[in-house]
Amino acid sequence: MTYTKENQRQLFDLSKKLLDEKGDLAEGAAKKQLADLRKVIIYHEWRYYVLNQPVVSDFEYDTLFKRIEALEAQYPKLITPDSPTQRVSNDLTETFPSVEHLVPMLSLANSYNREDLNDFDTQIKKLAGLDENAAVEYCVEPKYDGGSIALVYEDDLLVRAATRGNGALGEEITNNMKALRSVPMRAAFSKKGMKKVELRGEALIRKDIFDKVNKQREKDGQSVFANPRNAATGGLRMKDPKEVAKRGLEAFLYQLGYAVDGDGKDLLNVFKTHDDGIEMLSDLGFKVPTDQRKVCKNIDEVVAFCKQWEQKRDKYEYEIDGMVIKVNSLALQDKCGYTSHHPRWAIAYKFKAKQATSKLINVEYQIGKIGSITPVAKLEPVQLAGVTVSSVSLHNEEFITSKDLRIGDTVLVERAGDVIPYIVKAMDELRDGAEQAIVFPSSCPSCSSTLVKAENEAAWRCENYACEAQVVQRMIHHVSKDAMDIDGFGKSYVERFHEEGWLKTIADIYRLDYDKIASLEGFGKRSATNLEKAITKAKSNPLHRLLYSLSVHHLGKKVSKLLAAEIQHVLELKDWKEEDFTLIKDVGPTVAKNVTAFFDNPDNVALLNEMEELGVNVKQTSDDLPKMVSEDAPLFGKTILFTGSLSLMGRKEAQEKAAAAGAKNISAVSSKLNILVAGEKAGSKLKKAQALGTVEILTEQEFVDLISEN
Ligand code: IVH
Repeated sequence: MTYTKENQRQLFDLSKKLLDEKGDLAEGAAKKQLADLRKVIIYHEWRYYVLNQPVVSDFEYDTLFKRIEALEAQYPKLITPDSPTQRVSNDLTETFPSVEHLVPMLSLANSYNREDLNDFDTQIKKLAGLDENAAVEYCVEPKYDGGSIALVYEDDLLVRAATRGNGALGEEITNNMKALRSVPMRAAFSKKGMKKVELRGEALIRKDIFDKVNKQREKDGQSVFANPRNAATGGLRMKDPKEVAKRGLEAFLYQLGYAVDGDGKDLLNVFKTHDDGIEMLSDLGFKVPTDQRKVCKNIDEVVAFCKQWEQKRDKYEYEIDGMVIKVNSLALQDKCGYTSHHPRWAIAYKFKAKQATSKLINVEYQIGKIGSITPVAKLEPVQLAGVTVSSVSLHNEEFITSKDLRIGDTVLVERAGDVIPYIVKAMDELRDGAEQAIVFPSSCPSCSSTLVKAENEAAWRCENYACEAQVVQRMIHHVSKDAMDIDGFGKSYVERFHEEGWLKTIADIYRLDYDKIASLEGFGKRSATNLEKAITKAKSNPLHRLLYSLSVHHLGKKVSKLLAAEIQHVLELKDWKEEDFTLIKDVGPTVAKNVTAFFDNPDNVALLNEMEELGVNVKQTSDDLPKMVSEDAPLFGKTILFTGSLSLMGRKEAQEKAAAAGAKNISAVSSKLNILVAGEKAGSKLKKAQALGTVEILTEQEFVDLISEN
């Protein structure tokens, strides 16, 4: 099957349109819409299963699929034999022989939220003839995102392995599965009287191994896999089993599909629950979901467990795209039964999609505090992992050119966990020729000065220190927590006061008229007074905060402290030469050059003079000098290490306290270690220290007592 670019673009646009379709239709309209829906679903199945490159999210696909189901339910006579609802999906190719599964491998129905799960629970109770207030027990486990497999054991030996295929027939991949160490070649099913069993599971690649595989492929000039699922499903079908082992595939088992004794009698009912069945597989040496599996007493517990995993899915070693909820009692499962597509006793809870497609409408350019220009893509708003995304950073010019992004492109956007959203790629097959190149500006969008780019830097920069956009960013930095730490003064205040014309340079921050602020809409006397207090307090900040607040390129917090320790007054730096800076340990030539240039500019010197006149501290304070630890300090000259989890304070705080008490923090247990503070659940470090016999071992409380002596 092939689609022209033009076809693909039309089908994509049609899909987006169909996503908004809801409600009942007259028969004629339903017939027409069904034809459209089937066309787009067949296209998306091709993109997903054949190319492994979907252009819509799973959620969008499911929405379209459900729309077909709804219309077909309304008008059953409109069901056609080739409707996508009339088959379970298919991964058969011609490379491997087909084999028939002992029992069909069905799909799962999907749910997306608490309401869907409550509906499922209600439905189960109806099917089982239970009271609506009864509680049904469920077993919940991850929905692994890999390739499904079925393993057949006969007389305790692995005799056959197959992919899911079309659900009835699968591809025989026995030798490939035998290559996986996590799949036992022999398992003692006979102890349970079982002669022949079929197990269902998923072949997966751990995320870190996936990264390694991709790095190696990149090195070898091979194409990289888009995600661990593609690497896993590809791995299942490799021609050489040795290569499968190298790929790092593992198999998780999550379902007993079939089990009979020597007379062919069904033995699945030897277990009371699904969970018991999985436990047996675990005992027999199979890899099964353990900490990730939970028996929940009722649907509320199910919802809580699903939400908990949605939060931590990115921290889990394997890719999962949801949870699977199964009625735990096998007797109850029997009562619920199956549709032709899925068991009625199970449902998948799908996590919010991490990827979605959207249109790149425009690119705007943001100017940072040191003049770096950051291109930002404006997108048609799209839902991603639960938030609406309409703007994503494009980082720099190289990012745009390497991905060949164009205005008007349909782009694939991803947001994983707490990570900020980013553009994965442009869907070039959806281009219609009207897309426009993104032309990076050659002059500053704010002040029009020519942009420059240093050889080893990625960003184009505006070097005009007086550039208005930069001045605003510098003011935002100046008041921020790490710099002058002016409580309550943030980005929105800076922008507001700047709009009012009150802030032209950072010195103006110390000239604000609090009566005027009090009369601004949304402010009032109280907030003006609080602001005044915070600004007054900031005026006596140590010198290192002032240095850092000036936004000199590369002058970070650490070097600001090193410089503040060397000078009595900020303007001494005016007379420093570049070599003078580099005499200080940890101060490099780049920052030396930038600080020198800053103080060579008479405007900057004038700015600092103004600030001094306005009462801002520009001199060294005692806080600018490194803390000297006296020889009387309780831990003077000792080395110390914290292990286990601390309950009275955080680890960083404990280390700072130890340092203030004269100790040196080190990171390993060796003969050089004097003190080990062992918190809860201390492990190997504690054992090692005990074995050494020379290390003083303290509890957290003993450490606190020790440092508070004197
Ligand atoms: S149970 C008859 N449990 O999801 C029960 N399936 O969308 C059907 N999957 O084809 C499957 N993790 O490949 C089950 N813990 C799990 C699963 C799981 C992933 C896959 C499986 C199935 C697909 C259905």
